[in-house]
Amino acid sequence: MRAPKAANSTSLNGTVIWFTGLSGAGKTTLAVALKKKLEVTGQAVYVLDGDHLRKGLNSDLGFSNADRSQNIRRAAEVARLFAEAGNCVLATFISPFEADRRIARQIIGNRFIEVFVSCPISVCEKRDVKGLYKKARAGLITQFTGIDSPFEVPVAPDVTIRSAEQTVEEAINLIWEKLL
Ligand code: ADX
Repeated sequence: MRAPKAANSTSLNGTVIWFTGLSGAGKTTLAVALKKKLEVTGQAVYVLDGDHLRKGLNSDLGFSNADRSQNIRRAAEVARLFAEAGNCVLATFISPFEADRRIARQIIGNRFIEVFVSCPISVCEKRDVKGLYKKARAGLITQFTGIDSPFEVPVAPDVTIRSAEQTVEEAINLIWEKLL
């Protein structure tokens, strides 16, 4: 039997797995679970998270379309650097625009795997882990993705996860299969 590539400790060096989806869809949860599973194989993994990047490098950016584009461009450049340093990068950004995801793919190259974490907004809103949907509905936050800012469904993602229907383990296994 052929050994799965993902079971080799260095085979995913340079790969960027890019999670896109609404706030609360489960991007970070999946990335953290996948990180654990990959690290068992000895793979170096780096999780690059939207909330974290926005606190530092991208703290000058807001949520206008132009700022989101800039956010994603910088995120892709950072992901590329971490990938070139020998990591498998798990990038979690809403990245709501197809054109920006395309640019991220161009920056990163052919080791870019797009994972669409699909989840109905009603479910994300019910979860409301950060309380942001409530604030957005109350008008305290504007340009909120899914409410008054669009999310363009990916045209041709490499993997689609339906986080309202699948367990984290099922979702991780789907991504894992794509890595083989
Ligand atoms: S992206 O659209 O530019 O890709 P990114 O993933 O970096 O967004 O950041 C999204 C996170 O910022 C959300 O998970 C949420 O915690 C926070 N946030 C604050 N304001 C907004 C907003 N208006 N729209 C979306 N997310 C917001």
